[in-house]
Order: sequence, then structure tokens, then C-alpha cells
Amino acid sequence: MDTERNEEFLEEIKKRLSEYRFYHSLNVAEEAKRLARKYGADEEKAFTAGLIHDIMKDTDYSCQKEIIENFSGKMTDTELANPKIWHAMSGEAFLRRELGVTDEEILSAVRYHTTAKENMTLLEKVIYIADYTSAERDYPDVDVIREKAERSLEEAMLYGLQFTIKENVEAGRVVHPDSILAYNEVAISENKKVRKEEENAHTGNT
Ligand SMILES: [Fe+2]
Ligand SMILES: [Fe+2]
Repeated sequence: MDTERNEEFLEEIKKRLSEYRFYHSLNVAEEAKRLARKYGADEEKAFTAGLIHDIMKDTDYSCQKEIIENFSGKMTDTELANPKIWHAMSGEAFLRRELGVTDEEILSAVRYHTTAKENMTLLEKVIYIADYTSAERDYPDVDVIREKAERSLEEAMLYGLQFTIKENVEAGRVVHPDSILAYNEVAISENKKVRKEEENAHTGNT
């Protein structure tokens, strides 16, 4: 993605987002670029995807719903029941149809930055995590997930998914099936890793 396009995206997000959300987007772009460098993803794509991931976040729900229905088809009952996740879907549709973004990797990183999904690409994981660890974030556990993100993207994914799923359940909100599938996939592989480490430690001790 060329720099000129980033300038254009910057203008677009400035126009559409609150000041807080605008700076959040700049921070996610920087953090995504840093994580991409660390884990071997495309730094430029990570920066651009971070910049535009929340482009529809401050657009009213009725308008977002219209964009999704016009461009991506009907929403499922779970999606209809949780407007907080709409901006990821409307964001992808808007970027594709209105801003002419054609890079499928970037589009998909935007599309799944809130729910996550099974079999995520490196870039999708980078954006998912950067959204939790961007510079302005200050929720209680932010240091824990930042530390995990330095060790392994999967470890941070597991923590992020636990956080989101718990938050939704505790608030009585629905949990998107993609989040459950992502959680189970990462939990299986992370638990295997822990078991292997324990086995190695045990073998080493005897
Ligand atoms: Fe978002
Ligand atoms: Fe975000």
C-alpha cells in the first residue's frame, strides 16, 4: 500500500472518527507495524490495516447496518444481537466498496479484528493484538497482554479472546461463533505447548 493512499486514509479516518478514536487508530497502526516487524508480517500492510481498522466505529448503527446489508448480505441472529461488532463488518464493506481497497489481507484483518476467527493469518493476528496493546490503552490488564505479546502472538490471542468472551458473557451479551472457534483453536494449541514444556521439564528432572 503506497504512502499516498495512507495520506488519503488518514484524511478519511480524521473525517469519520472522534479525536480519541483517531489517535487510537494511529497508535494501532504504529503498534501493528512494530509487531509485524517482530513476527515477520508485512509491516506496510500492518500499518495501513491498523490505520483503517476502526473506520466505521463512530458511524451510527443504522448506517452501518445498511452498509453491511447492501454490500455483504444478511447478518446472522448473533451478529444482529451485538451492534458492537458491526464496525468490523461495515468497515470491510466500506473500504472495499467505497474506498476501493482491494488488498484481501488488509480487508480480512479489518473484518476479523473484533471477533477473531479460526485459522487467522499472521497479519490478522497482528491487528487483533495491536488493538489491545496500542500505546493509549490503559485497562487494568494491559501490561499482562503486552508482556504476552512480546513472547508469542498466540499466547496474547488466547488472553485477548478470554477477555472478550468473558466480558460479553458477564454483560449478558451474545458471543460470536467465530470467537468461540478462535478461542478453542488457540486454547488447544497453547495447552499442548504447556503440556510439552511440563513433560520436558519432567524428563529433564529425572
Ligand atoms: Fe474495533
Ligand atoms: Fe480499535
